Amino acid sequence: MSAPKLSLTTTSAAEATADAVIIGTVQDGEDVALAPGAEQVDVAFGGGLAGVLSTLGATGKPDDVVKFPTMGRLKAGVVVATGLGRVEEVGPEQVRRAAGAAARALAGTRRAVSTLSTVDLHAAAEGTVLGAYAFDEYRSERGDGPVGRVDLVSPAEGTAKDHRATLRAAVVIGEAVSAARDFVNTPPNVLYPATFAERAAALAKPAGLEVEILDEKALRKGGYGGVLGVGMGSSRPPRMVRIAYRGPKARKKVALVGKGITFDTGGISIKPASRMEEMTADMSGAAAIVATVVLAARLKYPLEITATVPMAENMPSGAAYRPGDVLTMYGGKTVEVLNTDAEGRLILADAIVRACEDEPDYLIEAATLTGAQIVSLGRRTPGIMGSDDFRDRVAAIAKATGEGGWPMPLPEELRRDLDSKLADLSNATVHRWGGMLAAGLFLREFVPDGLPWVHIDVAGPAYNIGSPWGYTAKGGTGVPVRTIAAVLADIAEHG
Ligand code: BES
Ligand code: MN
Ligand code: ZN
Repeated sequence: MSAPKLSLTTTSAAEATADAVIIGTVQDGEDVALAPGAEQVDVAFGGGLAGVLSTLGATGKPDDVVKFPTMGRLKAGVVVATGLGRVEEVGPEQVRRAAGAAARALAGTRRAVSTLSTVDLHAAAEGTVLGAYAFDEYRSERGDGPVGRVDLVSPAEGTAKDHRATLRAAVVIGEAVSAARDFVNTPPNVLYPATFAERAAALAKPAGLEVEILDEKALRKGGYGGVLGVGMGSSRPPRMVRIAYRGPKARKKVALVGKGITFDTGGISIKPASRMEEMTADMSGAAAIVATVVLAARLKYPLEITATVPMAENMPSGAAYRPGDVLTMYGGKTVEVLNTDAEGRLILADAIVRACEDEPDYLIEAATLTGAQIVSLGRRTPGIMGSDDFRDRVAAIAKATGEGGWPMPLPEELRRDLDSKLADLSNATVHRWGGMLAAGLFLREFVPDGLPWVHIDVAGPAYNIGSPWGYTAKGGTGVPVRTIAAVLADIAEHG
């Protein structure tokens, strides 16, 4: 989708040629106050801006966006004041959200100048790209379109060269999130395994990446029983996409895996009709992984990264797999299917085993895996499971990016509930307790002992069914692209 053009400026916001000027507001006790960066605009209003804002009912709270005319006091015609929240809590995520809310409010505007960048350039740039995102591919009448151009006032500290590098990284990250959102928002009659694979290749190849697409014939030949079993009920056969990036002076090898169910009806264990359409987002993990390996290449991370992305449509039909079936997974483990709606873990198991044949130093996997993630952590906080140390490292990074995430255990006593009466393992427990954790335990069976690995369950966070907020639009959110990108950057830096 079209994105705003972002550039740096050293002209003060008061002097800038633009249609709108973006300033930040904060909550200071009970009062609204100006965020740093708004000083010169305030001078143009005779120092009375905080009073004006208070009169207008501005609060400084997150998602509080107030517009007012400048009446000739600035070159720009309108000031957009966007809330950062409590003054003592202002950090990068608050700037990102406020920039996103402002960008949403500016849809249809040609040119704006932002002062939020003087507080945090990276966060302001990222928030602007993400907030301006709109998906109108399938509307016959396109809306206003995003804000056309945003000039970011350069921070006082740092060199122009640093600022350009910061801006570029933020834009590349923002574009990766947008690419993931586009995949998620594309409807399931258009985005199915074959077309998803083609679109993933079309994104990755221009970035210089190697792409391999395994079609159903190659999957049969390779013995990918999980992906084949799940994909069997659909007239649209499954795929497995492998995307390889070999960075300069790679210090570590990272395997990325993402769940790519292009639509999840539940299969023969069919889901209720109500809100089944949300299962168009069941490929969000795959979308994030594809977008992130491309991001890593564009930012030249010094890593070797291979993304392994299984894609299938989970449908009920005369050809579908059924409860009671035993599947032989890639690598030879057998799984008794107790519930065809626990399909994600089956395609992921194949992909994880394949990915680990390359002997990576780390495994990072993302999936919209369980409704239990939403029950336990809500719609905005990913559940993070895996080997203890790496899980905690990823969870800390997830929190720092603003995407959120919380470390969750893999309780040993749940493992035996996955024992099968006839196969090595069953794909579901007979009870519902700790459903997110049981899924994590299932995946653990396919991860080599001792490998640092993490499983990120984004069932809720990947898809916003509520109203837009901050930089998050309705629909695909792009979570956990920024978390995985930050983890890769951390591995590149610290090993
Ligand atoms: N795709 C769903 C999980 C999901 C639920 C994602 C809600 C997003 C929103 C997954 O394939 C699924 O159906 N999981 C089952 C597992 C169960 C049958 C063991 C679930 O969570 O109910
Ligand atoms: Mn399912
Ligand atoms: Zn699913």
